[in-house]
Amino acid sequence: MRHNPSEFHRNLVLKDLVATGALGAQIAAGLRRGTAVALDGELGVGKTALARAILAARGLKEAAPSPSFSLVQVYDLPDLTISHFDLYRIEQDSELAELGIEDALDSGAVLIEWPQRASDLLPDDTLIVQLVTGSQGERRVELTGPTRWTEFF
Ligand SMILES: Nc1ncnc2c1ncn2[C@@H]1O[C@H](COP(=O)(O)OP(=O)(O)O)[C@@H](O)[C@H]1O
Ligand SMILES: [Mg+2]
Repeated sequence: MRHNPSEFHRNLVLKDLVATGALGAQIAAGLRRGTAVALDGELGVGKTALARAILAARGLKEAAPSPSFSLVQVYDLPDLTISHFDLYRIEQDSELAELGIEDALDSGAVLIEWPQRASDLLPDDTLIVQLVTGSQGERRVELTGPTRWTEFF
């Protein structure tokens, strides 16, 4: 996805799920109503794991299910509603419209797996999280977003 040099940009390595948890806490601190976190990368790279870490850091006590079948899970957390979408199974724009991503952005923050399928709906305040698996099984992360995200890293 796009990268404008004047924006926030950072590369990180996550050697294990503990590191994923720490990144989740940093991202969680920057979430507010109208924010999207675009979790991009192949199946199995750790998008859901990072979403769970973000949700836990914002106060979710129970284990968050993957929304790969439900397509969306909504969490009313202490200071913010967070909707977690997984667009892998979306095949048509009509299905996308029914999911209510815009409404979710009006009422809270959204975490979106397979975000290319909703690229037209992503707000200006989108943190793009590009994940890839490295040769030793570690996860490599490239973060891109508006300048305000610098404050959280
Ligand atoms: N940073 C990491 N280091 C090692 N394993 C990880 C890491 N992040 C995720 N995993 C593991 O990778 C597997 C797939 O993760 P998941 O979050 O379901 O991927 P995705 O949602 O991208 O398909 C899980 O077993 C998860 O525990
Ligand atoms: Mg997933």
